[in-house]
Amino acid sequence: MEELIHQAAEILAAKKNVVALTGAGISVESGIPPFRGKGGLWEKIDPMKYAHIDAFIKDPAEVWDVLIKSMKEVLDRARPNAAHKALFRLERAGILKTIITQNVDGLHQAAGSKDVIEFHGSFAVQRCMDCHATFETGSLKLDSLPPMCQCGGILRPDVVFFGELIPPNHLKRSQLLAAGCDAMLVIGTSATVEPAAYMPVIAKRSGAVVIEVNPEPTPLTRLADMALMGKAGKVMSLLAEEVEKLIRQW
Ligand code: APR
Repeated sequence: MEELIHQAAEILAAKKNVVALTGAGISVESGIPPFRGKGGLWEKIDPMKYAHIDAFIKDPAEVWDVLIKSMKEVLDRARPNAAHKALFRLERAGILKTIITQNVDGLHQAAGSKDVIEFHGSFAVQRCMDCHATFETGSLKLDSLPPMCQCGGILRPDVVFFGELIPPNHLKRSQLLAAGCDAMLVIGTSATVEPAAYMPVIAKRSGAVVIEVNPEPTPLTRLADMALMGKAGKVMSLLAEEVEKLIRQW
């Protein structure tokens, strides 16, 4: 593994235009469960019953009670881990330009990363379904569900539910970045949810080196140029350290 990490660091240190695609796995070591696989959220609740926009519209109180309230409790406590910090280190080193994240937890920004595309939106903000006013999730009182706006509208997290479109500006920018990057780091995603999962395919077809970081193989592993099979915290810390070392030597 050390040799592979060294090889990946040499590739990254020589590139000036690296983009990262991250998924739930990068936040597991911050105490946020993933969606799929062992201990995954979708093992406990059916996403079509609780994470689809039609389900929310039909019974917002139930979706708030079963899914959103407990997400808030988990996310309120979560702090960036070594992997989020390593991506910030790669940005500071002038290597990593942008992070496309499927996560709604805000942990990349909390670690210091500046250019983060929140592909599936942000849980930090709640939006009124009627007047579109926005509120900080942290300031919400959840004594009665669903929480309401002063106008009487229902509040919803500013995230992309199943059945909703990716914000077009985020999709367009991500596609352009994927097509124009020299290398893409794909960290902690099962690479099963489109269109996010297609970004590494665009990168690869456009000539970029694709490096995957995940303890398990995914549908992307065969396409990737390198698979660093391990937990994001450890692998990304070692990778950032190696890149920093190489840059100092050059
Ligand atoms: N480090 C790195 N990867 C990890 C770790 C870890 N410590 N722990 C788990 N993983 C990997 C798993 O092996 C899996 O491949 O993270 C991945 C998590 O996959 P998913 O739960 O499917 O998360 P993600 O790919 O982000 O899901 C995409 O699906 O329902 C949705 O909207 C939700 O944005 C999410 C989307």
